[in-house]
Amino acid sequence: MTVQGIPSPGDGLRLHLNENTGGCSERVMEAIRALRGTDIATYPDYRHDVAAVGRHFGVDPDWLVLTNGLDEGIFLAAIATFGRAHDASLEAIVPVPAFDPYLTATAAVDAVTIRIPPGPDFAFPADAVIAAVTPKTRLIFLNTPNNPTGQTIPREVLRRIIAAAPQATVVIDEAYVEFDPAGSVLDELPRHANVIIGRTFSKAYGLAGMRIGVLIGHPERLEAIRAVTPVFNMNTVAMTALHAALADTTFLPAYVAAVDDSRRRLYAACERLGIAYWPSAANFVLMHVGTRASEIVAHLAGRGVHVRDRSKDPHSPGCIRVTAGVTAHTDQAVAALEAVVAAGLVETRSTR
Ligand SMILES: Cc1ncc(COP(=O)(O)O)c(C=O)c1O
Repeated sequence: MTVQGIPSPGDGLRLHLNENTGGCSERVMEAIRALRGTDIATYPDYRHDVAAVGRHFGVDPDWLVLTNGLDEGIFLAAIATFGRAHDASLEAIVPVPAFDPYLTATAAVDAVTIRIPPGPDFAFPADAVIAAVTPKTRLIFLNTPNNPTGQTIPREVLRRIIAAAPQATVVIDEAYVEFDPAGSVLDELPRHANVIIGRTFSKAYGLAGMRIGVLIGHPERLEAIRAVTPVFNMNTVAMTALHAALADTTFLPAYVAAVDDSRRRLYAACERLGIAYWPSAANFVLMHVGTRASEIVAHLAGRGVHVRDRSKDPHSPGCIRVTAGVTAHTDQAVAALEAVVAAGLVETRSTR
């Protein structure tokens, strides 16, 4: 059942939303437990948290805006770009398959949205994106590593798109970049006045329930975003969690290593079972299971393993997406996959 748009699969192993399957740092929990009633009764003052996040990313505080999850950041980028433009012909570009909120956000502000399909094997359609840029282009959503494919966009390609669209804001969503740190272009952000990088603490840091995202960019580029950001969009519990998460320097590398191990286990299982998959730079793996994908997702759920059905997206037909987290959870997923293959539900490489 879906209430207020929230996908709720019920009990079981949550491998459908790319969360941290092991939970957050214990230090986060300790910090939250230490909060007092008066902390909660007052409106949050998170100026020092903005500064701490700036230090974390190596930028001054005026180079970032904290958002209520990167989801909010995506909507703010769309509102800031199109909300006051009073020109219904302005365009956004979204390479697909994509994280749904890019399309929801551009639709919400009535932007003309140009969807660019991928090349073979989800190759990033660099030339097609550049060819789609017009004087009317105002916003481009790029996502590396990409959800749902796990593919990365090479740095030279990002540079070409950024250079081709100086009149647009290029949002580079790096929600999963902790799993592939070399893929981040944060280091060259000072050279790109039209880029906003999106980051989140939901994934590798395990703080999805806290809703903490960040937009990072040149202060002038962020002005329009600040103008539409609700005051007090972050809350005290989340900021307390964030502070503790940043202080725990062992949590992140340990989880990134676990995810790497889990991805390899998923690849090995796919090879063994004959399931086509795409090697991923993120904490999930996209697999091609064929025409009975939705049935397979239901079957896996029946075994207590919830995965994401991506088969209805015209650009990822027959696909499911499985989160790679704690290795014991991955082993449970592999066992469930083995069962659906044994039941003959999966179009394996040999049955296709
Ligand atoms: C590509 C991408 N961007 C942004 C988000 C949203 O992150 P947050 O939890 O910070 O809203 C997600 C979450 O699934 C995502 O996959």
